Amino acid sequence: MTYAYIHVSTDESVGIIALNRPKVLNALNLQLIDELVAELERMDRDPEIRAIVITGNDRAFAAGADIGEMAEASAIEIMQKDQFAVWDRIMLISKPIIAAVSGFALGGGCELMMSCDLVVASESALIGQPEVNLAVMPGAGGTQRLTRAVGLRKAMEMLLTGEPITAAEALRYGLVNKVVPVEAYFREALKLAKRIAKQPPLAVRMIKKAVHKADDLPLDEGMDYERNCFYLLLASEDRYEGMKAFLEKRKATFTGK
Ligand code: CAA
Repeated sequence: MTYAYIHVSTDESVGIIALNRPKVLNALNLQLIDELVAELERMDRDPEIRAIVITGNDRAFAAGADIGEMAEASAIEIMQKDQFAVWDRIMLISKPIIAAVSGFALGGGCELMMSCDLVVASESALIGQPEVNLAVMPGAGGTQRLTRAVGLRKAMEMLLTGEPITAAEALRYGLVNKVVPVEAYFREALKLAKRIAKQPPLAVRMIKKAVHKADDLPLDEGMDYERNCFYLLLASEDRYEGMKAFLEKRKATFTGK
């Protein structure tokens, strides 16, 4: 596949997608999002890939939806295109996605970051939802995911002022997993992805899904979901291998079966 706005590569069993519109700080136009989601879905189907990293460049992860593309479009045109529906497909990706974020992660860039499962940020990251400055509001999950991630007060402050927060503050609020110098953020994200890629894939997939359910389900239903996943994993070949290898004091070899 050749893409106009993303760059795709692999390193061992990690798929890497780099957003590639540097002149406009990786503003997320419709084609970029279509390409990103198509590639995520392709990587999700590829048995050689066990984890995925999404990144931008040192200056910008992504500065939001493409304002130029939206400026003249009418409400009805945007509604008919249903332009955010494609974003929802990111949540259906079963493999873990790690965001490697440096510089601006604003608006849709912050929403894309929050759609990922883990975030490694550089010290220069600036993260926020500035849509209010344009007299609009987030449309790809900003009010919902940010509030779940940082709590009502902080989300309200960020969304109503439009002011971004620094990487250090994002770490304090649990919005990112790790903050490292700018030279190291991509390397660290890749390291984390490779570590997860070595884990048994069926367990990884079910843990990811169960953790996301915690946002949506009441506790008793979430517990029930978790337990059924646990029982299901007991039917995998990898769990016999994992437990046997532990007892035999050797390293397990997982096959994903
Ligand atoms: N859409 C389109 N173009 C953008 C863009 C965006 N979101 N963000 C930056 N650019 C473009 C600029 O227009 C500029 O292009 P030119 O060189 O052709 O003029 C180029 O990227 C570089 O940007 P700046 O010159 O503005 O760089 P800066 O360092 O002075 O400022 C910035 C950086 C603070 C991020 C500033 O660009 C900015 O405020 N960008 C907009 C951020 C924003 O409002 N994002 C939310 C968009 S709406 C949304 O995302 C809705 C949703 O929920 C999905």
